[in-house]
Amino acid sequence: MNRKYIFIAILMLCFITLNVYLFSSAPVPLKVDLPKEKSTYSIADAFRIIARVNSIARSLYTRNIVNTGLEVGLSFDENWQDNEIEAGPLPAQILRETSAFIEKSPLGLGLYLGSDFPISAPNLFKEMQAENFQELRKDGKPKFFYDVSSKRYVGMFPDIAISGACVKCHNENKNSPKKDWVLNDIMGATTWTYPGDSINTKELKDMINVYLNGLDNTYKRYLEKVKTFKKIKVPSIGKMWPSQGYYLPDAPEYADTIYKLTSYEIAKGLLK
Ligand code: HEC
Repeated sequence: MNRKYIFIAILMLCFITLNVYLFSSAPVPLKVDLPKEKSTYSIADAFRIIARVNSIARSLYTRNIVNTGLEVGLSFDENWQDNEIEAGPLPAQILRETSAFIEKSPLGLGLYLGSDFPISAPNLFKEMQAENFQELRKDGKPKFFYDVSSKRYVGMFPDIAISGACVKCHNENKNSPKKDWVLNDIMGATTWTYPGDSINTKELKDMINVYLNGLDNTYKRYLEKVKTFKKIKVPSIGKMWPSQGYYLPDAPEYADTIYKLTSYEIAKGLLK
């Protein structure tokens, strides 16, 4: 009889110990709301994210390649691809080349730079885009609308004269219909188009990736061109930038800098 009680007592002791163990050491469920990836984005939100990335990349090229490059003796020219011209692409051409790359992908994303006073006539905004651009000119805010003629959703973001190089070059260009641009003027609008009104996270990531790849591809073409320079000295290509002398960053350094500068915007856009 006694043995039976001892056995039951041991069994109960084991049961209590197990419970104490389970309750004291089992992981407590987290109550903190961790940021989750959004699953869908309105096309306006998607345009906002990619437009921020583009604006950072565009200002990097204008300020840290063109502006400082001009100071150390590099040139930038509309006809940079001609054999006899030893120059690099203009900021607008970087955007155009990047956009040609994006448009070759199956994503359906469109990108271009338009204006009401364009140097290049095909960049003139027309119809609904012209109307929306006039609104943007007044309040300086991005515009989102459905363009019935192209059957695409459109996002327009002000393109601002962020540096003296923008103003000087446009005012001096013989084809420019406006010669009195000043610093901080809205010179045009970066315009994104897409056939649908929303996209999912994967599509948004693909868009950002294709954009960054396009930029990388365009910059590499500039470096290839630089290596063919004969009349002017070929700058050293590596980790240094024109602000440090007669240098140009190589493609990995350039891409890495863009990643560093845009990663905050990308993370903020992809997380809630
Ligand atoms: C060294 C000259 C040069 C610099 C610097 C330059 N641009 Fe341009 N930009 C041009 C030329 C040339 C075009 C027309 C290119 C094309 O589309 O064929 C152009 C195109 C544009 C367009 C499209 C409308 C148009 O005029 O055809 C906008 C908007 C624009 N530039 C704004 C800017 C801004 C903002 C900056 C500075 C961040 C800038 N540009 C820097 C020469 C320049």
